[in-house]
Amino acid sequence: MTTLLQDSSRAGASVGLKGDRITIRGGRPLRGRIEVKGAKNLVTKAMVAALLGETPSVLRDVPDISDVRVVRGLLEVHGVKVTPGDEEGTLLLDPSAVESAHMADIDAHAGSSRIPILFCGPLLHRLGEAFIPDLGGCRIGDRPIDYHLEVLRQFGAVVEKLPSGIRMTAPNGLSGTKVELPYPSVGATEQVLLTAVRAAGITELRGAAIEPEIMDLINILQKMGAIISVDTDRVIRIEGVDRLEGYTHRALFDRNETASWAAAALATDGDIFVGGARQAEMLTFLNVFRKVGGKFEIHDDGIRFYHPGTPLRPVVIETDVHPGFMTDWQQPLVVALTKAEGVSIVHETVYEQRFGFVDALVDMGATIQIHKECLGGQACRFGQRNFNHSAVISGPSKLHGADIVVPDLRGGFSHLIAALSAEGSSTVSNVGIISRGYEKFITKLEQLGADFVLEG
Ligand code: EPZ
Repeated sequence: MTTLLQDSSRAGASVGLKGDRITIRGGRPLRGRIEVKGAKNLVTKAMVAALLGETPSVLRDVPDISDVRVVRGLLEVHGVKVTPGDEEGTLLLDPSAVESAHMADIDAHAGSSRIPILFCGPLLHRLGEAFIPDLGGCRIGDRPIDYHLEVLRQFGAVVEKLPSGIRMTAPNGLSGTKVELPYPSVGATEQVLLTAVRAAGITELRGAAIEPEIMDLINILQKMGAIISVDTDRVIRIEGVDRLEGYTHRALFDRNETASWAAAALATDGDIFVGGARQAEMLTFLNVFRKVGGKFEIHDDGIRFYHPGTPLRPVVIETDVHPGFMTDWQQPLVVALTKAEGVSIVHETVYEQRFGFVDALVDMGATIQIHKECLGGQACRFGQRNFNHSAVISGPSKLHGADIVVPDLRGGFSHLIAALSAEGSSTVSNVGIISRGYEKFITKLEQLGADFVLEG
């Protein structure tokens, strides 16, 4: 893949950095302050929500990442006018001329993101039809869309699978329904929300995901005129309305980016202030960070994460849906755990194949074994099913430089951290993937004093 790394490092003004490879001389602690903007996993959905409004929306704190560019492109081919707003990171989204897009145009803008599936409900409401091409996203498991399709059928959509993708129509409109998800899927919960707000009547969703990004999407939909109540025990009720307006909203900060830089501070013996991060949404991560021995300070404008200067401690963790320990946090943390004194266990229960990234860490000198059994916690959906989903990490290990090819977004960031903490030089290829979810990470590495050279 040839990727254009959008970054504004070195030359000051916005420079497109061609090339996909970075050579890192490790061993230098990352120190300094960086800012995080809105969460990738909220902003992209908020952009889709703008399709539902009769008037334009204003979204603030939008990061300059490639997933945002994919969604922007998809909105534009559907007639939504997307323009920059008054302050940096603001987008104006005007859906007044929404129209059907040509399959070829949709295809050209998809393929590297799973967000297109969330266009279905809003497009069915606006146009009575939707076409969804083959979906991309990180290869971290099967990542099926069966919940999405089943939910849309329950609302009354007619789903037709074509060789090039999926076509949907709603000959009789969409009506509220009772939905029970087999697993609290983030995307399927968002699918229900984005479809139910304009469906006729009441929708009751049981088994909903309740991640802070979902709560922020609910905030946005309420601003638009939706009626949504969140009950106890993962039950969400939505009363459909006839009309929604545009919204003005500042996006929730990126919790995954925050956790990634926190882990980078720990792994490199560093000290990183993450501006824009907030405690409430990081509670579970902060508990684990403290158990490992990491230090943090909560400030009004961000969180400082730093290495204690004494040996790190091993932990036993299990990834889970919110309010559990997020699956997206485990990869960067595993790098820090290679430095802890003793045996750590990480049981991945959200995705069945999210330990592919550890091969590179082992090549760099880490001692990590992957097991099919559910270790260190309760039996999960993946137990007894041949999925390598538990990791045993024995530390402390001294990592040494290596040549690494980035496999996916979070795994890729972990490889960067590993290279930054290793002795000697590493070449990390395919780093363009990282710009899917980490805004200006090259600039931020510079700000934190990393020693690296961009190639290509
Ligand atoms: C979202 O993915 C995020 N992506 C992921 O972040 C995140 O890891 C995940 O939620 C969990 O928090 C975006 O928001 C764009 P799910 P999503 O539906 O919505 C199974 C990152 O690195 N499932 O909650 O696709 C699925 O296979 C990315 O930023 C079905 O079986 O995740 C998985 O095992 C990676 N059928 C589980 O549910 C379906 O139809 C949870 O997936 C849908 C999901």
